[in-house]
Amino acid sequence: MHDLISEIEQFCLRNGISETRFGELAMNDKPFVSQLKSGRDLRGSTLRKLKKFMVSFEAKETLSASDVSTFPQGDLAFPHHGLLGIAHLQKHEILFILDQAQQWVELNRQSSKHSDLLSGHTVINAFFENSTRTLLSFEIAGKRLGADVVNMHAAQSSIKKGETLIDTAITLNAMRPDAIVIRHASSGATQLIADKVDCPVINAGDGQHEHPTQALLDALALRNALRKRGDKSQDFNGLRVTICGDILHSRVARSNILCLQALGAIVRVCAPPALMPSGIEALGAEPFFDFDKALQSTDVIMMLRLQNERMEGQFIPSAREYHYMYGLTESRLKEAAVDALIMHPGPMNRGVEIDSEVADMLDRSIITNQVEMGVAIRMACLDIVTRSFRKVDGWF
Ligand code: CP
Repeated sequence: MHDLISEIEQFCLRNGISETRFGELAMNDKPFVSQLKSGRDLRGSTLRKLKKFMVSFEAKETLSASDVSTFPQGDLAFPHHGLLGIAHLQKHEILFILDQAQQWVELNRQSSKHSDLLSGHTVINAFFENSTRTLLSFEIAGKRLGADVVNMHAAQSSIKKGETLIDTAITLNAMRPDAIVIRHASSGATQLIADKVDCPVINAGDGQHEHPTQALLDALALRNALRKRGDKSQDFNGLRVTICGDILHSRVARSNILCLQALGAIVRVCAPPALMPSGIEALGAEPFFDFDKALQSTDVIMMLRLQNERMEGQFIPSAREYHYMYGLTESRLKEAAVDALIMHPGPMNRGVEIDSEVADMLDRSIITNQVEMGVAIRMACLDIVTRSFRKVDGWF
């Protein structure tokens, strides 16, 4: 054990990361190293996971972002059991998912859209909170890959009879699914379920925490829009992105800040003071309260809706005032770069955070492309996270 602790200490020193960050990246468990030092037991599988993480992390550090051919291969390309957040991913792992998704973009544009990749495998979509885009695209993704897809809606489940989330997880696990996709209103609920089941879990949005597949589909839509304009880069080095709206309650904002920055973008966040989380600078994003200022020289504008379902009390004086201060209008758009792209994860509240004239701009808005990329990204994620489980060659 002493050797392992010393190996981790040296690893952290070599790579300039704290032991807390090491725990978060390697185990999704910030106090992991301090608990290890106080004598926490370690299973063989955890030790293997730690070793694999360290090899993969250092392999990545020596890579150039544009040299995709040298990215880690086999299970080192994505050494995770599931997908719970962008915070656990490294740049090359994000690029791997984006590159894998591209084949599904092509398939989805054909008249016949079927693959047998997940034939005989079962995917459960357990949604404890409303969704249109995420639920439907995970269902379509699983079906296009040939999986047996089952949707569990909380409103019709035994949760309504008082069953706990943990008992629900144990029940789902007993049905031997090959992947479980979870949406839940509580931050951390997906981790709780992932700890109780054998198969990989994908986070489809948990409270105010993370919505990783949204950030990945946004990155793919953005990369493809930039490629259409002739930019062939793998990443977003130097791209200026402004995210505006209810940053405080938004899991989309958090996952996007992490994902965009990992890919090299410069991220600004803009919100009324009451909807700006304190300490947002720690995530590396620059906060603005004046939307016009935030828009200066911005290449990409990502608008977010007010998450009324997560607000207790009054955060803004009125929707009309919010629109006046923070709504994206045609005249306000002139503050940004002349060809700035417009994004919105949906659902949109037209006339509140964004005007229809802007949301529907054919040459600037990529909002419907975001929805299209959602299916491809979710196909890639279902494929990748089930590879070990499916015993795909090179994935253990
Ligand atoms: N963007 C998003 O998560 O939309 P849904 O809530 O409709 O899934």
